[in-house]
Amino acid sequence: MENQKTVTSPTPNGINSIDSMPRDLSELIKLSTQEVHERAENTEFMKGFHSVTLTQLKLLLSSLYTHYSALEEELDRLSSNPCLSPLCISRWQLHRVAALQADLRYHYGADWRNEAVLAVPAATREYAERIHEVAHSNPCLLISHSYTRYLGDLSGGQVLRRLAQRSLALPPTGEGLSFFCFPEVSHAGRFKELYRARMNSLELSDLARGQVLQEAQTAFLLNVKVFEAIQKMSVVPPPRSSENGALRNRVPPPRTHSIQSEKGPPTSSLSASPALRLVLALCFAVVTVAVGIYAL
Ligand code: HEM
Repeated sequence: MENQKTVTSPTPNGINSIDSMPRDLSELIKLSTQEVHERAENTEFMKGFHSVTLTQLKLLLSSLYTHYSALEEELDRLSSNPCLSPLCISRWQLHRVAALQADLRYHYGADWRNEAVLAVPAATREYAERIHEVAHSNPCLLISHSYTRYLGDLSGGQVLRRLAQRSLALPPTGEGLSFFCFPEVSHAGRFKELYRARMNSLELSDLARGQVLQEAQTAFLLNVKVFEAIQKMSVVPPPRSSENGALRNRVPPPRTHSIQSEKGPPTSSLSASPALRLVLALCFAVVTVAVGIYAL
């Protein structure tokens, strides 16, 4: 296989056995993030994306705006760094910030900048801070963040766009969902191949390579935390117990209750109405007195 190099290791009897394992960064990173990818796929938020709500979509787009602003700011600043420049060649085709700004303006209106930034969960800010932090301490680790977001969005973006568009009845022309479209990428599959080839061309020491793999797992986990936070923020809390009581007084009793009443003793409806009992007692007293007077 083109992507694999052979690694020889001595066997106990002294004969070299040939273990083959992927050596290309693109293969290694895919393998090492397989488990966290599954975790991201299986978050409640992702699994429920077919019925995504507007609140959730707005929180997602606001979070993505925060992440991509950090990532693209750092990639622009570091575009001549040798471990990033091959990936930065095509950054104009990938840049997401402008598309996200358009989407946020569509959903939040003119004041989107204040509203969207204020809306994001703490996990979103944590992710953006991590991007800035590694950009300053070890810029090669931006390979991991670029891979996780850009290849992920190129892989699943179209499906997510269709699901959101259907769930929220957004215009089929794509307004409000521009983030998911890459108009400068004519063929996502071929583009991803090119991106992988550029990743494989990077000259990294074994130590740096290991750090990149580790950071890719961190990037996935940071995404998982954001999804979990969005899911939590967008769930409507159940009514408090006092509200529960008030609600019970407003809603009609469940059908089973009325069936039980129908079958129950006839006094059951009286016991529920002291006013009715009083009226009946008065009537009874009046009739008794009238009968007494008549008897006299
Ligand atoms: C329901 C959720 C998801 C599904 C169903 C899904 C599915 C897929 C599929 C089928 C591929 C392979 C595409 C191909 O080889 O052309 C892929 C690739 C990828 N996905 Fe996801 N994905 C999901 C969520 C995510 C998330 C949340 C992230 C990251 C934040 C992500 C990051 C990636 C990356 C980086 C790749 C490229 C893998 C590679 O070729 O090296 N995915 N995804």
